[in-house]
Amino acid sequence: MTDSITIRRPFDSHVHLRQGAMLRAVTPITAQKFFSAIVMPNTDPPIDTTEAAAAYKEEIMAAVPEGSTFEPLMTFYLTKNLSPAEIAKGFSGEASAKVYAVKSYPYGATTNSQWGYRSILEAKDVLREMERVGMPLMLHGEVHLNDHDEEEDPYEGERLFVEDTLPRLLDAFPRLKISLEHMSTAIAADFIEKNGAEGKLVATITPTHLLYDRRQAFSGGYRTLIHMKPLVKRREDRERVRALAQRGLPFVSAGSDSAPHPESKKFSSCVTFGVFCSPAALEMYTGVFDELGALDKLENFLSINGPRFYGIQPSEERITLIKKDWQVTEPVITSEGVKVWPIGHVQHGLGNEVIRWQVKR
Ligand code: DOR
Ligand code: ZN
Repeated sequence: MTDSITIRRPFDSHVHLRQGAMLRAVTPITAQKFFSAIVMPNTDPPIDTTEAAAAYKEEIMAAVPEGSTFEPLMTFYLTKNLSPAEIAKGFSGEASAKVYAVKSYPYGATTNSQWGYRSILEAKDVLREMERVGMPLMLHGEVHLNDHDEEEDPYEGERLFVEDTLPRLLDAFPRLKISLEHMSTAIAADFIEKNGAEGKLVATITPTHLLYDRRQAFSGGYRTLIHMKPLVKRREDRERVRALAQRGLPFVSAGSDSAPHPESKKFSSCVTFGVFCSPAALEMYTGVFDELGALDKLENFLSINGPRFYGIQPSEERITLIKKDWQVTEPVITSEGVKVWPIGHVQHGLGNEVIRWQVKR
């Protein structure tokens, strides 16, 4: 039985660090375990200029603990203000922050998505420029509104995207680098396994979609800590996504999608979408790969595939995880006294959840 594993320091291909007091509370958690991360731009206001990205990077860097070499990698939000000219400017890194990718949110689908296009196919000029300069597109791959502006069934949004929008996008922009974020369905896993290609079409998986399905979401009541977009799906979907991770393909990587929300919004009659997982993401991924008998694939998934896609070197530092039970017992509390509850919390998660691996100190 393996009870210890040493890997290169991991990379989070997808994290939300927010702003202000929330940012100052959650950034050190990611910086402690990951050497670098792709930071989501769905702040308010959104990050859609090179100047805004540089200022946002500065805010994050000020919250990185002293002595840490953590580097946040910035992204643009594909808003209607994001111009083709800004693409080349951000990607060439002329300002103090290079912008590594563009993130697309379907209008209305999730947190701060009110600045997104209804469909990614409406943003042709920007996509053409991204294809020309080689800047990757990160997709929130769900159809939220149909052509008549009616909401689609949220359990079907990813399927509709993968069956309809994604093939059209790939046809229209054959050289565009694309990452399908937070894959949640068997249909997406099938599509990526068949069409994925290193440096061209890749995908990320969250710990949430590897560990939970809708049985847990509705077990004994509605479990708001695992409420996110894309929603957790059927058991068969989760098993198919796990099987994809288990294969160890070079175009599949860890993107935690850690998305903190204040207690008041998470425990509310209109619960926000987003799972705060950075306190346990790395350990949960390790537990899943252990269960799958795939610990030999963990380092590529966590530490190598993500950096390669974004053109950066994997870390030379190492981190060791040991098989030892622990529980998430505390919330994170911001300097303003706001509580943020992490996934797996003993009381507010599914109840008495145990995490089987931990980082060796
Ligand atoms: O659940 C989600 N939360 N999905 C997203 O796409 C955005 C994120 C957030 O920012 O809270
Ligand atoms: Zn996200």
